[in-house]
Amino acid sequence: MLSGKNILLGITGGIAAYKTTFLVRLLIKAGAQVKIVLTESASSFVSPLTLATLSKNPVLTNFVHEDANSVDWNNHVELGLWADVMLIAPATANTLSKMANGTCDNLLLATYLSAKCPVYFAPAMDLDMYKHPSTKHSFDRLTSFGNVMIPATSGELASGLHGEGRMAEPEDIVAFMQNHLATGLPLSGKKVLITAGPTYEAIDPVRFVGNHSSGKMGYELANVAAALGAEVILISGPSHLTMNTTGVKLIKVVSADEMYDAAHAHFDAVAVAIAAAAVADYRPKTIADQKIKKSENDLNISFIKNKDILLSLGEIKKNQFLVGFALETENEVEYAKKKLIKKNLDAIVLNSLNDAGAGFGKPTNKITFIDKNLTIKAFELKTKAEVAADIWGEIVNRIHA
Ligand code: CTP
Repeated sequence: MLSGKNILLGITGGIAAYKTTFLVRLLIKAGAQVKIVLTESASSFVSPLTLATLSKNPVLTNFVHEDANSVDWNNHVELGLWADVMLIAPATANTLSKMANGTCDNLLLATYLSAKCPVYFAPAMDLDMYKHPSTKHSFDRLTSFGNVMIPATSGELASGLHGEGRMAEPEDIVAFMQNHLATGLPLSGKKVLITAGPTYEAIDPVRFVGNHSSGKMGYELANVAAALGAEVILISGPSHLTMNTTGVKLIKVVSADEMYDAAHAHFDAVAVAIAAAAVADYRPKTIADQKIKKSENDLNISFIKNKDILLSLGEIKKNQFLVGFALETENEVEYAKKKLIKKNLDAIVLNSLNDAGAGFGKPTNKITFIDKNLTIKAFELKTKAEVAADIWGEIVNRIHA
């Protein structure tokens, strides 16, 4: 897909800039022509001479190129029009913010504003910068312009800290672009439904029975689905998390019954549904109209069964790819397989409470993905964002198979 393409590579000032020498070689190996625009600070991290040698094109930094004999204007409009694809890697928080706001104080930014081609950006920064709401705002804004983010990965950072913010590896950037250019986004044109978070079952006007689910896994699944091009309906029980991702419609519910109604209202229209919510299996038989006053006696509350949302979706599903979660403490795989069959699922994601770092309220998770052919794939302990990407990888492979 990159063969014969004109690729304009914008390099900004982060330590990951040293990896762009490999990136240029891979792009050229894939058959592309590469021109490079470097910001002033990027040239402290990677040598323009190396990049010019590898790309076989002059490397540009300033609007004006001067030497002893001549003065040349580096025309950003021409460069922007030359490009079939623009890739900004590494993309620093500073440049991303400027791109999101139309700032135009260097050649790279002027070229970005002039480019009419698809634009990809591969962020690289320290973990707290990557998580900062203003950086996230830049990502969202750029994505809303149709620019495509090649997410950073997790690992050791130049600061010595460990976390999200490492630029995707050059081979992964090339593979991402090839895949994206070949197929568009894998979930383009598809609707996806995700349930997330706990449910609260009222006892009286001020009390409820709930659980410790944070909703994080479901929210990350929604973010990844949107990044893959889906229109996402996220039905969430009470959660402190916010959702600002373009392409995700958040429907807030409180009880299992409300979640059931919301899920059924949208299920017909979706291609994939994932039940990541920790739904209460039971609710108090009656909800007291007034706050229950304490008395000398013990309090007994009768519980009745809630409807199983996932089971009910499995009963009515037509072509939807239906995925459930199973949280188990023993005979994990066997119990998960039984649930998959009983609820008529296409796949089930197993969490074992025996795995340290997995489960409610944790930033990480360790999953085993089991499909309806009972093929089992176990993953390492990862951040929930990475786990969400793994789950979608498995789903996308199967719905496109
Ligand atoms: N689920 C649901 N509605 C319910 C209960 C569970 O949609 N009322 C979904 C969850 O979102 C999750 C899966 O079913 O995808 C989890 O089921 P599980 O953990 O097995 O709970 P139960 O089916 O209630 O089984 P048990 O508690 O006996 O393990």
